[in-house]
Amino acid sequence: MSVTILGIESSCDDTGAAVIRDGILLSNVLASQKVHEEYGGVVPELASRAHQQNIVPVVDTALKRAGIDKSELSAVAFTRGPGLLGSLLVGTSFAKGLSLGLRIPMVDVNHLHGHVLSHFVREAEGDPVPEFPFICLLISGGNSQIILVNGYNDMKVLGQTIDDAAGEAFDKCAKVMGLPYPGGPHIDRLAAEGNPERFKFAKPRIPGLDYSFSGLKTSFLYTLRDAIRLNPDFIEENKADLAASLQATIIEILLDKLRKAVKQTGVRTVAIGGGVSANSGVRAAVEQYCLRNNLTPFIPKRSFTTDNAAMVAMAGYFKFLNNEFCPYDAAPYARVTI
Ligand code: KG4
Repeated sequence: MSVTILGIESSCDDTGAAVIRDGILLSNVLASQKVHEEYGGVVPELASRAHQQNIVPVVDTALKRAGIDKSELSAVAFTRGPGLLGSLLVGTSFAKGLSLGLRIPMVDVNHLHGHVLSHFVREAEGDPVPEFPFICLLISGGNSQIILVNGYNDMKVLGQTIDDAAGEAFDKCAKVMGLPYPGGPHIDRLAAEGNPERFKFAKPRIPGLDYSFSGLKTSFLYTLRDAIRLNPDFIEENKADLAASLQATIIEILLDKLRKAVKQTGVRTVAIGGGVSANSGVRAAVEQYCLRNNLTPFIPKRSFTTDNAAMVAMAGYFKFLNNEFCPYDAAPYARVTI
């Protein structure tokens, strides 16, 4: 009998629904919230209100695009955390209502597991998936982690940020440059035209496999502040070089610890995930590093890098096969690790 999972994602500012049947993606729908742009960051109250408006049409569209009726669903998988509590409550409550109404089980998904397992989302039979064990560099707006993935539900954090995440470094530096939120994609676009060697910013000296990005952020801010004193048009005249140099520094920081993790573990497969893995420079750098060292890279499609429900449905599918269900009184959690 085939297994059909509806995945629901509402941890931050994207409302997503996706359908996976027997491990193959049938639909993946995402409603992103533009309302936060003018505030320079996600406003939690506005995010939960927008999820309320989006969730029914998004789920309805996902079922229609998958070409299935809700009676064909085997289970509803939903993101239980980490994330914004008000946003998570919308997805969690909707999942509860739907599974109770359809008398099908509910599967709770750790959003971070979802990002890692996005590499198993197949759009067609025969699409390649990583073999265990592999290392996943999970880099997003809220996380920067190096994870040793031994199995679908067996993951170990080898290193993580002790302050800001890589995405925050992109976004906060972009804000200093006057770029809109989220700044990561704008830095990526500008960096393509700039000189990555032009400016040098501070790099952290943190032992082990942990990351730190707050020093880089301060160094970027001070460089700009001092330069603007001499030339008020400094940012405008140098924005491509600033973006390229910032991006190159973030990539160097990320790759330095990734290389160490590969050396320490001897693992030969390297995956990346999370919003920052959409970055062209990061993708190219990881691909080149793997090529030079005879490692197998897994670089996700851009639509699976940022928050999406396909990864939630995928993680839910594995838990479903393992009979790991969630009780109806389950509450979402804002904070949780891998
Ligand atoms: O995984 P994600 O969608 O969700 C959160 O963690 O909230 O990641 C969002 C982050 C933001 O910081 C955004 O600026 C960054 O991913 N991002 C990028 C790019 N696309 C998204 N950073 C650099 N280059 C990109 N192309």
